[in-house]
Amino acid sequence: MLRYSVVFLAVCSACGPTLKVEKPLEVRAALTDVNPDPAVVEVRLAAGPASVPYLEGKDADVWAYRDAAQEGSTGTVPGPMLRAKVGDLVIVHFKNELPEATTIHWHGLRLPAAADGSASSQMAIEAGAEYEYRFTVRDPGSFWYHPHVRGDVQIERGLYAPFVVEGGAEVDVAADRYFVLDDVKVSASGKLSEGNETLDEMLGRQGNVLLVNGQKGREIEISAGSRERWRFVNSANGRYFNLRLPGVKFRVIGWDGGLVPEPYEVETLLVAPGERYEVLVEVPDKRGERLSLETIHYDRGHNIPDPGPKEILGLVVGSAKKHPPKPLPSQWRTDLPELTVTADTRVKTFVLKELETPEGVQFLINDQRWPFNTRVEVRQNDVEIWEVKNEAEMDHPFHLHGHFFHVLSVNGEPFTRKGWKDTVNIPQQGTVRFVVKYEPSPGMWMFHCHILEHAERGMMGDLMIMP
Ligand code: C2O
Ligand code: CU
Ligand code: CU
Repeated sequence: MLRYSVVFLAVCSACGPTLKVEKPLEVRAALTDVNPDPAVVEVRLAAGPASVPYLEGKDADVWAYRDAAQEGSTGTVPGPMLRAKVGDLVIVHFKNELPEATTIHWHGLRLPAAADGSASSQMAIEAGAEYEYRFTVRDPGSFWYHPHVRGDVQIERGLYAPFVVEGGAEVDVAADRYFVLDDVKVSASGKLSEGNETLDEMLGRQGNVLLVNGQKGREIEISAGSRERWRFVNSANGRYFNLRLPGVKFRVIGWDGGLVPEPYEVETLLVAPGERYEVLVEVPDKRGERLSLETIHYDRGHNIPDPGPKEILGLVVGSAKKHPPKPLPSQWRTDLPELTVTADTRVKTFVLKELETPEGVQFLINDQRWPFNTRVEVRQNDVEIWEVKNEAEMDHPFHLHGHFFHVLSVNGEPFTRKGWKDTVNIPQQGTVRFVVKYEPSPGMWMFHCHILEHAERGMMGDLMIMP
């Protein structure tokens, strides 16, 4: 079975572009499974202070997850991957070694509300305290985990990590890579800049250093003529990544909630904060060529200027693999439930607003500001349409915990692609409708903008599912 690793080869300097041999770009090895039962993934995870060099040779003080089952392990950004397969029971023994309270939210997973790790579903885990999460994974896909207490600060400081659930259609690829996209604001000394400017509060803090798996300006080698699977998550506080690989198309095979029934090709791929996409890339059969994975400007409002394309990862085409890739599966996904929408399907409206006040910008949902909001109450297994109206002059990526939904329309235009989402971008002055079944479990769930400064400044709400 393919392990999410990147193999580094030195290329002879006389033949084509050279690849600097550095530490691997791979997300650090998966958390150690201490349970011999193949149907149980039992891990020890800790969060605490650590240091990582975002700028060469200069350490930044971060907060990071580490594999506490490994004696003497140190925290990494992103944190170690949690890897399980569909149907596994996951047990996480978590220790909070941070100087403040935290929780872990398993973004995108359908699990019992009590394990969701939000401030509404559990008491925060105090500094020095331990906590156990326990849930069964139901859906194959690319997820991630992060704190849900002071998310704008804790995630920015480095607390985020990928979570892969294996299962579903098998795709023959030469490499299966998880690219966690982020940006950090660091000063010339290499330290994370303290405090926010007004614009950070408005747009979500954007950094001056772009990171792929916690590293900047990296280059990796890929095999000529091979096929690779790349999983992207945007873990940034506010930055949108609008990806492009000039000369090569992305074949999108999966979204937040796993594979889509009908893959499609795009030249650019917008990944808003919190979203995940899985793509296949057919590597050109041209040894020595250098490809550039770039993020290009996306107009998300408030007249953010276009900084021009920025490379986030260089890819050098090396020698070919012995075997060409096998044909793609003929069926990608057949188990997506259809949610029937009729004229009687109830519609819930959520209006997103921003408000400038003498105390700073506030972000509202239905004129309410978390944590002074009233919860929305629904019945388990009901199917409803959410109509999210964005009255603000910037986009907001809207996320609902513990559920997947089908997008029905964007700005009144029917949305025809099928697939499961848990985070959807609501364009400035635009409206998105989606249909959702309140299926996972009764209890308290949250919904919010995934621009973390917005969420923490009010654009968050509670959903109570009653049995
Ligand atoms: Cu990644 Cu409440 O979210
Ligand atoms: Cu979430
Ligand atoms: Cu927002």
